[in-house]
Amino acid sequence: MVYNKLVNYVFLLSLACLCLWTTATLAAVSDRLRPGDVLNFSSSICSPNQIFCVCFWTSMPGLTYLAVSRGSAQVWIANRNKPIVNTSGLVLTLDHSGVMKIMNQGRETISLYSPAQPIRNTVATLLDSGNLILQEVNSNGSMKRLLWQSFDHPADTLLPGMKLGVNHKTGRSWTLVSWHTDSIPGSGAFTLEWEPRGSQLQIKQREKLYWTSGVLRNKKFEHIPKEAQRMVDYMIVSNDNEEYFSYITQINHSGWVLEFGGQMRDQGGGDLAKVDNCYGYNTDGGCQKWEQPTCRNPGERFEFRSGYFDFETDSDSNSTSNLNTSLAVSDCKATCWSNCDCVGFDYSFENGTGCVFYNGKWKSANLASVRGFAILVSSHSDKKVKKKWIWIGSSVATILLIICLCILCLKQKRKKVVPKGERTENKMLDLVTSDRSTNFTELQNDVKKGHELRVFSYSSIMEATNNLSLENKLGEGGFGPVYKGKLPMGKEVAIKQLSRSSGQGVIEFKNELALISELQHMNLVQLLGCCVYGEEKMLIYEYMPNKSLDCFLFDSSTQSQQLEWKRRFSIIEGIAQGLLYLHKYSRLRVIHRDLKASNILLDENMIPKISDFGMARIFTQQESERNTKRIVGTYGYMSPEYAMEGLFSVKSDVYSFGVLMLEIVSGKRGNNFYHEDRSLNLVGYAWELWRDGLGRDLIDPRLSSSCINHQMLRCIHVALLCVEESADDRPIMSDIISMLTNESATLPLPTRPGFYTGRKVTKAQTFPKKSKECSINDLSISVIYAR
Ligand SMILES: *[C@@H]1O[C@H](CO)[C@@H](O)[C@H](O)[C@H]1NC(C)=O
Ligand SMILES: *[C@@H]1O[C@H](CO)[C@@H](O)[C@H](O)[C@H]1NC(C)=O
Ligand SMILES: *[C@@H]1O[C@H](CO)[C@@H](O)[C@H](O)[C@H]1NC(C)=O
Ligand SMILES: *[C@@H]1O[C@H](CO)[C@@H](O)[C@H](O)[C@H]1NC(C)=O
Ligand SMILES: *[C@@H]1O[C@H](CO)[C@@H](O)[C@H](O)[C@H]1NC(C)=O
Ligand SMILES: *[C@@H]1O[C@H](CO)[C@@H](O)[C@H](O)[C@H]1NC(C)=O
Ligand SMILES: *[C@@H]1O[C@H](CO)[C@@H](O)[C@H](O)[C@H]1NC(C)=O
Repeated sequence: MVYNKLVNYVFLLSLACLCLWTTATLAAVSDRLRPGDVLNFSSSICSPNQIFCVCFWTSMPGLTYLAVSRGSAQVWIANRNKPIVNTSGLVLTLDHSGVMKIMNQGRETISLYSPAQPIRNTVATLLDSGNLILQEVNSNGSMKRLLWQSFDHPADTLLPGMKLGVNHKTGRSWTLVSWHTDSIPGSGAFTLEWEPRGSQLQIKQREKLYWTSGVLRNKKFEHIPKEAQRMVDYMIVSNDNEEYFSYITQINHSGWVLEFGGQMRDQGGGDLAKVDNCYGYNTDGGCQKWEQPTCRNPGERFEFRSGYFDFETDSDSNSTSNLNTSLAVSDCKATCWSNCDCVGFDYSFENGTGCVFYNGKWKSANLASVRGFAILVSSHSDKKVKKKWIWIGSSVATILLIICLCILCLKQKRKKVVPKGERTENKMLDLVTSDRSTNFTELQNDVKKGHELRVFSYSSIMEATNNLSLENKLGEGGFGPVYKGKLPMGKEVAIKQLSRSSGQGVIEFKNELALISELQHMNLVQLLGCCVYGEEKMLIYEYMPNKSLDCFLFDSSTQSQQLEWKRRFSIIEGIAQGLLYLHKYSRLRVIHRDLKASNILLDENMIPKISDFGMARIFTQQESERNTKRIVGTYGYMSPEYAMEGLFSVKSDVYSFGVLMLEIVSGKRGNNFYHEDRSLNLVGYAWELWRDGLGRDLIDPRLSSSCINHQMLRCIHVALLCVEESADDRPIMSDIISMLTNESATLPLPTRPGFYTGRKVTKAQTFPKKSKECSINDLSISVIYAR
């Protein structure tokens, strides 16, 4: 028995030694940097227990850093304000005179440590605490002197054992500085400091005190949540040499991160400080008070929302931008808060820098979502009882006044306009708008001058649609609901009720429509007429019995079966012809700006008809000068230059057409994601398959009965040319048509497309959380919700 145990013991012991020995030899190459060694782009140095590693890390193209990481979190960045642009030949070196520096093949050099006198015996190691140290060693390998350590240069993360405070002897101070944005590690707006006199931690935004931890009582800070301090011990040192704060903990993977929005969080635990809730009027959770602009009230705050928001009046509302890239969302927030006209903000550049401010007054959140940004909201405060009563009083008075007016109007207008049996809402609508619809006859006369456009009366529309009843509703289009109607002659029509006021006067609206109604092509839905009734604006189109293309493409039901390849190809051709007409042969030169599968209607012969063309003209003609932030379009179909800079041209339609073609070939939606780890959209997915010679894997499996032919692959090829990153590289519609029809023509090779990836839809939160990954992040675009 004893013998057996002993054998076992010896065996286990030798096994353990073997393991130790193997890890030792494997890690030997990369656990330290000796004079003459280099750390290249593809290698790393790890701490003895592999908890931390130091390696090069790229946050965005053109921004590469030397970072100490734990898992996917960068806890320290060596060159946060001097990112490396060109990574060719990028190395960290330690030379024989003790100089440790980052350099690439170009002329970029960043020195981390450079001694006054050359030091020969040095070694750089990464400790299990996360501290990267450079030391001078004796000939027997023991430490002689500590030359440099990363803990002396804090970034945004305070690791256990790291100091926060000041060394009076060397004049060195230790402060955390947040990142600039979630993807730019450069110094941002917030700092975390140790304030020795008050013995408390402080978070400041650009020198302004936002938050304090409160004093330490019973080993706990007053304003830091108790559960976050459960297993934490603080060390506070104050002597003639230094005054600092530091902590140790049993929490695994602890590290206090000061996030770019100001919040402080423990990587191994929970929230430490919710600084984003500090507005200067509240003192909860450690928030500090400061002087408020007179227009801001307790209870008001910003919320991150997504959607399309309308201003109360277009004339007094605008958006202003500040393109200074030193500004990040927290700066935008502070500026917006102090400006009484500002009701919301957003960043202007994709990397999260710059500001856009929305001035005016929000009306309501509209159904049509475009992108998310922060808007001002107010939660009712009990302290304002007085104001509330005034408010209620005046509301009651207003309601009474409206009722009186309604009764008066009702008596006057009943016989003339309101058809029998109309619902109360419609009556109200009539009454409110009746005065302004008097120019109806004028409008009709105006239009008759040589135009095809018919002006329908409101009552005939109500009759045709059974008072816009729910049974007659065909669906919800990009600009409002669509109803099916039956005109007295029996002709079926589709009636689109424009949901948002276009901001145009009746006459301009009508002129615009007259132009649009002149556009006539087999592949365009014919506009038959319009109806203007006060604020109500409706468009009357020919009716398409077969619904839209997306019903056929993306419905997993049997319907999609009947779209075999021949039909799909003729749909592609039809759309191309319709677009060519809009771009080139129509007098107007219309850019659609919202081309997508749901805007392609199919008639009884499955001939595609583009709908909603010219809408951009109606809705954005004025806005394009005044409010370029209002981008009409649908995420997944928008070209990079349009989505990011609002630049549109025929080439942005070509981009959308490319996406549409990929959808038709693959039967997949353009804005779904096709990779679990990376958010790869259809364009990116198609490109990767194509690049790897697997183009046929993209083809809709439901097409497998018809064999995969050259034409399908050609369509993918042409589609990839349409979604090229640079608008100049995309072909024009006439070239596209000849590429598709002329099989012998040779096609240029596509390059990597724009909008290769899309960011996954984030949950609504004040600021998106910082995401850190030890890999190259591809270009990503902000969340733009599909409408
Ligand atoms: C990077 O360094 C590692 C280890 O030092 C080495 O094996 C590898 O070949 C180097 N890679 C390049 C691209 O130089
Ligand atoms: C990076 O530097 C190398 C060497 O100087 C040069 O050949 C290469 O073109 C540069 N790359 C970029 C993207 O500038
Ligand atoms: C290593 O050498 C230094 C001086 O050269 C000496 O002070 C130290 O005790 C030595 N350490 C060991 C472990 O031999
Ligand atoms: C930390 O991790 C170790 C080993 O993984 C585990 O035994 C220990 O319970 C953990 N400590 C805490 C506080 O979770
Ligand atoms: C935008 O609105 C703000 C406040 O409403 C006003 O001060 C500013 O002059 C306006 N700018 C433009 C270009 O209309
Ligand atoms: C950009 O903003 C920063 C921070 O507010 C400021 O210091 C700088 O002067 C600004 N730059 C310009 C060009 O306005
Ligand atoms: C962020 O984007 C803007 C506009 O593209 C650019 O000017 C700026 O340099 C970028 N900032 C960083 C840190 O890359």
